[in-house]
Amino acid sequence: MSIIKEILAVEKNTNSHFSKIASTYRNLRTTDSEHIQYIKNNLEKKSEINIADVGCGDGRYSLELLRCLKDRCYICCIDSNGEMLMHLKDYLTENNTTNFCVRPGNASKLPLENDTMDCIVTFNAIHHFDIQKFLVEVRECLKDDGHLFVYTRLRSQNRKSIWGEYFPIFADTEDRLYELSELEQHTQNVGMNIRSTKTFTHLRTSTLDRLTHQAQNHHYSTFSLYDQETFDESLKIFQQNIKKNFRNLEKITWHDENILLEIEK
Ligand SMILES: C[S@@+](CC[C@H](N)C(=O)[O-])C[C@H]1O[C@@H](n2cnc3c(N)ncnc32)[C@H](O)[C@@H]1O
Repeated sequence: MSIIKEILAVEKNTNSHFSKIASTYRNLRTTDSEHIQYIKNNLEKKSEINIADVGCGDGRYSLELLRCLKDRCYICCIDSNGEMLMHLKDYLTENNTTNFCVRPGNASKLPLENDTMDCIVTFNAIHHFDIQKFLVEVRECLKDDGHLFVYTRLRSQNRKSIWGEYFPIFADTEDRLYELSELEQHTQNVGMNIRSTKTFTHLRTSTLDRLTHQAQNHHYSTFSLYDQETFDESLKIFQQNIKKNFRNLEKITWHDENILLEIEK
């Protein structure tokens, strides 16, 4: 297969993955709030804040931002997946928020005017984008004093997670994530600058049943990269690994780590 065909096949697979899980996504994932609070503190001085949430998914973090910043912000929610955006619209409306708009669009060609955004955020999504094209677009759309916040897990952080440690070939299969040095290089390539980085460590507690349910429902898109036979076999080994390493299967604890990058023009 040519490289272009390979990329198109991966994109198609990713989009169909997000269509399949759009209705359950919010319940399958764990929503953190520390990074939202951090962004809020960072934007404290501004009064009217134009934000774009790129790869917003079903809107769980758009809502957190809207709640945190209240009437001071207007959020443009951008995603390439129509199903995700449909769920986002319902979710934000049910939660009585109005200061948002929904824009179907690709991170490589943002549906935003140049020099209009105070802040662009992207949570758990940058590894799905063409990062170089996305950063060029961000540079164009941000105001001169605007900031981009990227919340992600690095490849090394993913490796240390419960999935990376105990689910066969999970860490190697998920080769789309970045290391910090690679993010620095991409940022420099477009003439932008990483102003700060902040690592968040989250104590997680779960049950083997819940973990099994999450994997079976592909809460991480990594699982949609396994063929069915490999997935079934790997899930069995994961369950055995967990039983071997944790005494109480009703209270399995571990730490997840994420990083937040603040990038300026
Ligand atoms: C893992 S989800 C994260 C959703 C949300 N930010 C969150 O943390 O809950 C990634 C999202 O990025 C979207 N996405 C993937 N590639 C994209 C692209 N090139 N342009 C815009 N959105 C994209 C997917 O449709 C999906 O909704």
